[in-house]
Amino acid sequence: MTIRATVTGVGHYLPDRLVPNSEFEATLDTTDEWIRERTGIERRHFAAPGQTTSDMGARAALAALAMAGREPGDVDAIIVATSTPDLTFPSAATMVQKAIGMTGGFAFDVQAVCAGFVYALTTANALMLAGQAKRVLVIGAETFSKILDWTDRTTCVLFGDGAGAMLLEIEEGDGSARDRGILATDLHSDGSFKDLLYVDGGISTGAPGVLKMEGREVFRHAVAKLAQTAEAALEQAGLSGADVDWIVPHQANLRIIKATAQKMGVPMERVVVTVQDHGNTSAASIPLALSVGVGRGQIKRGDLLVMEAIGGGLAWGSVVLRW
Ligand code: UT7
Repeated sequence: MTIRATVTGVGHYLPDRLVPNSEFEATLDTTDEWIRERTGIERRHFAAPGQTTSDMGARAALAALAMAGREPGDVDAIIVATSTPDLTFPSAATMVQKAIGMTGGFAFDVQAVCAGFVYALTTANALMLAGQAKRVLVIGAETFSKILDWTDRTTCVLFGDGAGAMLLEIEEGDGSARDRGILATDLHSDGSFKDLLYVDGGISTGAPGVLKMEGREVFRHAVAKLAQTAEAALEQAGLSGADVDWIVPHQANLRIIKATAQKMGVPMERVVVTVQDHGNTSAASIPLALSVGVGRGQIKRGDLLVMEAIGGGLAWGSVVLRW
């Protein structure tokens, strides 16, 4: 008998304000055509002025609990992946805990920027296999609109706000790759690439700062590293690209998503793509795509999924999971 962290629910939340590419044409030297062609992005959602990461995370969490038929009191732990928590502390996760009315258990944040959700899933899996928790809510939630430089056309058109959540529960498997649940994880980071993607503020500067990115360089690393980490996790599980039903990639750029799928030998018909509607929502992008993919009827029980992501750090990684 093998213990597996298995998905029983997913849910998401997107703020009301929907901004098409054309809205940027009024204030920046950019076009809808450039943004679509270079990124695949057509629109994104932005949070209302008072709306926070934990507000959105709590809504996504309640949707995931509803799908699983569970109450907040059934949950042992909450992990929120975010780089845009409401405050420096306490964690967004403890704010979600309060917002959904959960009084027991424990909650904390994981900060690995766009790779945050695969880091949080890996952490949840490790806690569950170690017997520390039986039911864990893993949430990716971001308000990148609060850290964008609205005068920088090379970054501000790329990002969006939103939240996605997943409930993981312990189930028993036979130890084979046919088991449902998390089958393998693979994480990496390399702090020497800090200057490629960072926020130029924080505690040390006294101001929150804005996002800075060397887009072309990050693109190069993404194409090289994403297929590598996905293939390493598949190999760990005794599987290959041929076994994959769905790649659920971090949604930063359609060209990166296509190049990664091609390297893995997986056709685009087996890739969940939401970048056109959400833009890059950092740690929220994978759980948002999962929830939308389930809603569209793409992802079904028993399907083999690979999630892969890269972002600031650089930090990157992947998770192989049978739905
Ligand atoms: O989630 C974290 C990970 N992040 C990523 O994965 C992002 C990775 N990078 C990318 O997705 C792409 O590199 C970008 C979408 C950021 C940029 O696309 P690119 O094809 O790499 O363009 P580029 O940076 O090479 O720029 C090409 C041209 C430049 O003009 P010049 O120097 O050739 O005259 C840019 O100034 O496009 C210009 N440009 C724009 N033009 C119109 C850059 N941004 C814009 C814009 N509108 N918004």
